[in-house]
Amino acid sequence: MSNSEVKNYDRFMWLLERFSLRRLRRDLLGDVYGEVLEIGVGTGANVGLYNGNLEWVTAVDLSAERLAGTVERARFVNGSYPFMAGCADAQRLPFADNQFDTVVSTLVFCSIPDPMQALAEVKRVLKDDGRFLLMEHVRGLNPITQRLTDWLHPAWFALQHSCHLNRETAVAVQSAGFHIQETSAHGWGVIQTIKAQKRER
Ligand SMILES: C[S@@+](CC[C@H](N)C(=O)[O-])C[C@H]1O[C@@H](n2cnc3c(N)ncnc32)[C@H](O)[C@@H]1O
Repeated sequence: MSNSEVKNYDRFMWLLERFSLRRLRRDLLGDVYGEVLEIGVGTGANVGLYNGNLEWVTAVDLSAERLAGTVERARFVNGSYPFMAGCADAQRLPFADNQFDTVVSTLVFCSIPDPMQALAEVKRVLKDDGRFLLMEHVRGLNPITQRLTDWLHPAWFALQHSCHLNRETAVAVQSAGFHIQETSAHGWGVIQTIKAQKRER
């Protein structure tokens, strides 16, 4: 992804962020604690919004161009918490087992080629009492938005090359063995936040 594509992505997202996503991000990120891993951090939309009881944030993304923006943003929040970012694939995380207290993913599982493999990796790197917090766009949650996201998906995927409009991410999270504590639906049910635990407490 080129620098201009990265800038276009941020411009495209500005309105959505301003009127809806930022509030959801804040709510989600208020629940982080301890050592945090953010996968698919992109240009760092969450960086200034972490407000939980955290020790530090390690962030990864496949795209070096996007990470450059993230590191730039992180400089502004320096001092609030230590922040490190590097290139890595969520399907093969370069971290030890049971390393993190919280894993965060926002708008990422739509574009991971093998979501079950990435979920297995998230589970592996989370401590046993760790939490997995997601905000994802998903297959519609009612019959009308389901039909719409299924119908739009092929054209959207052809245009975007990697983004699936109709993934049922909460179902995948549960199938991967996480215990879902809470979900909430937004934007006519196409945006979903999911709060899950590695093990039931
Ligand atoms: C739509 S952007 C979302 C960025 C950011 N999380 C946000 O909330 O705005 C999706 C990001 O996921 C990253 N990504 C996609 N597949 C990935 C993978 N397998 N491993 C790591 N990052 C991935 C992309 O490079 C991109 O930066």
